[in-house]
Amino acid sequence: MKTTILVVCLGNICRSPLAEGVLKSKLSPIKFRVDSAGTAGFHIGESPDYRSIKIAAKHGIDISLQKARAFKVEDFNIFDRIYVMDRNNLENIKLLAETQEEKNKVCLILENEEVPDPYYGDENDFKKVFDLLNNACNKIKSDLISSFRAP
Ligand code: 4NP
Repeated sequence: MKTTILVVCLGNICRSPLAEGVLKSKLSPIKFRVDSAGTAGFHIGESPDYRSIKIAAKHGIDISLQKARAFKVEDFNIFDRIYVMDRNNLENIKLLAETQEEKNKVCLILENEEVPDPYYGDENDFKKVFDLLNNACNKIKSDLISSFRAP
């Protein structure tokens, strides 16, 4: 069975589509299912922000076909791990959790650090977000691989 990973931001148009694309580029689709969602529904059905599409494309990653969706409580049943971008996302998702097990699935994508919202920023802010997410996804990948290692 696949390990399932959800990445979450506020709008699901800037940060989490990038995180989804970067993580998919590093993990085998045979072993992992990766998806993204937003805590808010402002942009449901929209493509990622053009600045996220652009910085991803610069690194050979196509995220242009993604469509924004909102996080839903059923996601707690579907996903093994839920990585969020900032403390607001963390609080909002944990509020929806009904059990401690569900709460335990949720953590910041960067340990003790937030991925800043670039929506009102410029292309340089999107570059910074890409670099942060690339580091975060490398760490996720190595954590996942070590968790599969035989004891
Ligand atoms: P995201 O960025 O959470 O990284 O997708 C945002 C996108 C849209 C808005 C805020 C943040 N907004 O206010 O519409």
